[in-house]
Amino acid sequence: MLALAAATMKLPQLMIALPLLAIPALALTPAEWRSQSIYFLMTDRFARTDGSTTAACDLSKRAYCGGSWQGIIDQLDYIQGMGFTAVWISPIVEQIPETTGEGTGFHGYWPQNIYNVNPYFGTADDIRALSKALHDRGMYFMMDVVANHMAYKGPGAVTDYSTFTPFNSASYFHSYCPISNYTDQSQVENCWLGTDVVSLTDLNTQSPLVRNIWYDWVTDTVANYSLDGLRLDTAKHVEKDFWPEYNRAAGVYCVGEVFHVDPVYTCAYQQYMDGVMNYPTYYPLVEAFKSPNGSISDLYNMISAVSSQCEDPTLLGNFVENHDNPRFPSQSYTGDVSQAKAVIAFVFLTDGIPIIYMGQEQHYSGGQDPYNREPVWWSGYSTTSELYKFIQTSNRIRKLAIAKDSNYLTARNNPFYTDSNTIAMRKGSGGSQVITVLSNSGADSGSYTLTLGNHGYSSGATLVEVYTCTSIQVDSNRNGAVPMASGLPRVLLPSPWITESGLCGGSSTTTWQARF
Ligand SMILES: *[C@@H]1O[C@H](CO)[C@@H](O)[C@H](O)[C@H]1NC(C)=O
Ligand SMILES: *[C@@H]1O[C@H](CO)[C@@H](O)[C@H](O)[C@H]1NC(C)=O
Ligand SMILES: *[C@@H]1O[C@H](CO)[C@@H](O)[C@H](O)[C@H]1NC(C)=O
Repeated sequence: MLALAAATMKLPQLMIALPLLAIPALALTPAEWRSQSIYFLMTDRFARTDGSTTAACDLSKRAYCGGSWQGIIDQLDYIQGMGFTAVWISPIVEQIPETTGEGTGFHGYWPQNIYNVNPYFGTADDIRALSKALHDRGMYFMMDVVANHMAYKGPGAVTDYSTFTPFNSASYFHSYCPISNYTDQSQVENCWLGTDVVSLTDLNTQSPLVRNIWYDWVTDTVANYSLDGLRLDTAKHVEKDFWPEYNRAAGVYCVGEVFHVDPVYTCAYQQYMDGVMNYPTYYPLVEAFKSPNGSISDLYNMISAVSSQCEDPTLLGNFVENHDNPRFPSQSYTGDVSQAKAVIAFVFLTDGIPIIYMGQEQHYSGGQDPYNREPVWWSGYSTTSELYKFIQTSNRIRKLAIAKDSNYLTARNNPFYTDSNTIAMRKGSGGSQVITVLSNSGADSGSYTLTLGNHGYSSGATLVEVYTCTSIQVDSNRNGAVPMASGLPRVLLPSPWITESGLCGGSSTTTWQARF
């Protein structure tokens, strides 16, 4: 702490003398990540250096389609325009060079040399320029990192270990065994992911030698690119006690991918890293809102389960789409825009850090990988699409709550009303809670008034529904009449908050509000 303070005090001189020096002291703490809002993109599929909006990309081929780090820099207005404060990019390291029966390493999860950057996306200087461009905008930089495995084109049994840098011999790895039983935790950690086409060479992360290489690597990577946060790929495939020192060596917020529906299983990892992706909520969330038949009560129960099982649910990463699951608007779920808005509003207004996956704002509808990795350039980076603007409003709502209520981020989300098609949740300080009402009824459903009690406001309190800019007064029985229509989400805020909020006519001009 003392050393840090001294370094910070000397900062102005240092920055003049050594402009290239990485200054990790400026990185965000986990607590500071709570107030962020993350846009997750795969570098190959977000934006090209030539700015093309028509470049072809045959999704089924899993080939490189031309996205680059410079391309991201050129499209930061598009991301920031939605209100995001942080960008998470797919892994940067050099991949296996081959085109295989399962395509290429365009996604970044097939590492071969951890000290080189992927030349398809640009240079290390481009990544530094991206980091600087984000920081110049007051935004933050999160990177996806893989510690579980390297990759090899071919069956695990015939791996040529000399292809790996620095792990260039079998001694760095677990001996070959494909994972055959995903409920056997020892197999999950010590056997190999992948297939006979591309095997994911499983590092012996219990070995002190391997651990030290990774801990040094993560310290250097965070410093080299002035990173503010990390997403830990395949976290459950590495033994838990690898992670605390990795998280410490990184010195920034780490959120792990623990791909598991059970909150007992998933939350356990939060004792070893700052946060985990909220997979337990993901499943009942998509099920609840994909149809009017979806189970609201399963979602309700999961909110409490996660809140009680996880050490700190306000540090989880919330999402409803990513590159590993069919998109919500895909045939697996629903093409209904109101239902899509409901799940997006949930991601923004429950406990934790909202994460939107590239293309979600354009209502992309790709199914399983590789079809859920559509290039964002195909949308022409439209800033007028319905979900782009809905996300923009949702970010404004959340930022307003954070600004007005110092307890908002750490308060626990409290679902207080459900019926077979609706959930209402409240979050924040008593007397000024954010009330979120979500319906799974869909765009074809009608209009009605939902009479909501137990919301924590007193009789006479005036609230504003901020997606429609409707004023609601709490009546003498302490009920609020919430105007529901077309299955659209509703969020009620105390009306004094609206001035200068950029919402509902509160200064900063927002004519587009009317459309919602
Ligand atoms: C998978 O592993 C679990 C946990 O060790 C065990 O209980 C189960 O019997 C195994 N399943 C099979 C098919 O071997
Ligand atoms: C950090 O940057 C240095 C200098 O460019 C480079 O030699 C080193 O490999 C980088 N380390 C990592 C882990 O990327
Ligand atoms: C809801 O369930 C009913 C009865 O099982 C079924 O007929 C209907 O198609 C379902 N609706 C949707 C949108 O899934």
